[in-house]
Amino acid sequence: IEGEHKLPPTTLSPGDMVCVRTCNSRGEGATSCMQGFLYNLGEDGCSITVALESRHGDPTFSRLFGKSVRIDRIQGLADALTYERNLEALMLLQRNGLLKSNASIDVVATLFGDSKDVMKMEQNCLIDWGESSLPDPRLSERCAFDDSQLRALSLGLNKKRPVLVIQGPPGTGKTVLLTELIVRAVRQGESVLVTAPSNAAVDNMVERLSRTGLNIVRVGNPARISPSVTSKSLAEIVNGRLGQFRKELERKRTDLRKDLRDCIEDDSLAAGIRQLLKQLGRDLEMKEKETIMEVLSDAQVVLSTNTGAADPLIRKTGCFDLVIIDEAGQGIEPSCWIPILQGKRCILAGDHCQLAPAILSRKALEGGLGKSMMERASLLHDGLLTTRLTVQHRMHDSIASWASKEMYQGLLQSSHSVASHLLADSPVVKDTWITRCPLLLLDTRMPYGILNVDCVEHLDPAGTGSFYNDGEADIVTQHVLNLVHCGIYISFTSLIEHRINIV
Ligand SMILES: Nc1ncnc2c1ncn2[C@@H]1O[C@H](COP(=O)(O)OP(=O)(O)OP(=O)(O)O)[C@@H](O)[C@H]1O
Ligand SMILES: [Mg+2]
Repeated sequence: IEGEHKLPPTTLSPGDMVCVRTCNSRGEGATSCMQGFLYNLGEDGCSITVALESRHGDPTFSRLFGKSVRIDRIQGLADALTYERNLEALMLLQRNGLLKSNASIDVVATLFGDSKDVMKMEQNCLIDWGESSLPDPRLSERCAFDDSQLRALSLGLNKKRPVLVIQGPPGTGKTVLLTELIVRAVRQGESVLVTAPSNAAVDNMVERLSRTGLNIVRVGNPARISPSVTSKSLAEIVNGRLGQFRKELERKRTDLRKDLRDCIEDDSLAAGIRQLLKQLGRDLEMKEKETIMEVLSDAQVVLSTNTGAADPLIRKTGCFDLVIIDEAGQGIEPSCWIPILQGKRCILAGDHCQLAPAILSRKALEGGLGKSMMERASLLHDGLLTTRLTVQHRMHDSIASWASKEMYQGLLQSSHSVASHLLADSPVVKDTWITRCPLLLLDTRMPYGILNVDCVEHLDPAGTGSFYNDGEADIVTQHVLNLVHCGIYISFTSLIEHRINIV
């Protein structure tokens, strides 16, 4: 923004899908708009960076240059591309689902068939629900798995099992287990597509797989990929491989441009040089396409969001042996079909008691869109598709047993290694009542207590349908500050181990 002006206050944040339009002095936008992603907001409050889709030579930017523009957020759920991709998946499912040529026919038959269909498939040796015989499942370099995890691992490695649902409360090691499953699946020769409903969950997976030494590629819009994993993004890997080629091409271009300046007198020679320059542009485009396909087909594991898996680049790589969806309880069923229809078998991991798919439309809810595929699958065929993780490895037993009693029928146990661990046990943390207290529940509804001051819920005026509560936010802030004073490192992302997360 030019001059002394600052950007107006905004709730936009990096990764938001936005629409950019020129506008008049009253802020009324033009009808034609360009879609893109918010890349970042300048710290000085005077700049905003938006990544817009455009092709070489496209006048996108010149149309906006020097004009007043308005930037509006496109609400995630109203995003047309996502909608189209979900719809396309359902149409593919309806049209090809039960065709013999469909690689995922066993998955479709299992998730839509009745017990007779499943029995028929078993009798014809098309599928098998047993555990695979692992050489020695305890020999993992990453973790000593508990019994429920080992069972999930051997079920997940059975190549003839079309569907496995791994259900587990928080901290039971679903993501760790999937990492191990992926490593072992690749070892047994399978190609793997890994997805999750959100970019954050995909990046969490990328982060963990980066430490395994597998050849992995993260596909997706660069503006939505976490900076800590960009080195694994398709764009970054392709750029790295093309570095030398681009340098060489740039050198040739510079030479040709110089020749062009020197031959103003000779029209036919100049035309020839222009042709050569054009050809260089085409060569680069071709080389880019080749390299993208090379990177994707060399990859042992491809990762994207559920809807990102509809990317034509992923589709072109061909069928995957195994599709894995993490946080599967949070995605709507159509979005899960996007990756699933691209693989021979699938594993869904998640927790039906954590966040369910976010559905705003009452009609859609009534029609069943709020029920995730994971939840639906876990109820099919008398629970045959599902295995449960029952030991949590993250938190003190008082937190887990409270959650276990409230939400998991008392079935959740705590691993010995964490059952009694406290913040105060760390050598860098001060020993105070706060760091010795594993679970603090504050009831802000007490009618006359001091905790109740300003703890009233208000509806977000921005129209998001969410509620906010200033008083509770103050209490949490104060508590977090106290923890920081005790020497605790706080992180707001879920990518760092040994951190405290703020929910
Ligand atoms: N068998 C194990 N032994 C030791 N630590 C483990 C084991 N399994 C998981 N963990 C640890 O427990 C923590 C939680 O694991 P993970 O994030 O995989 O759980 P999750 O079920 O995916 O949780 P969420 O529901 O939050 O996604 C991690 O720090 C992980 O390293
Ligand atoms: Mg997880």
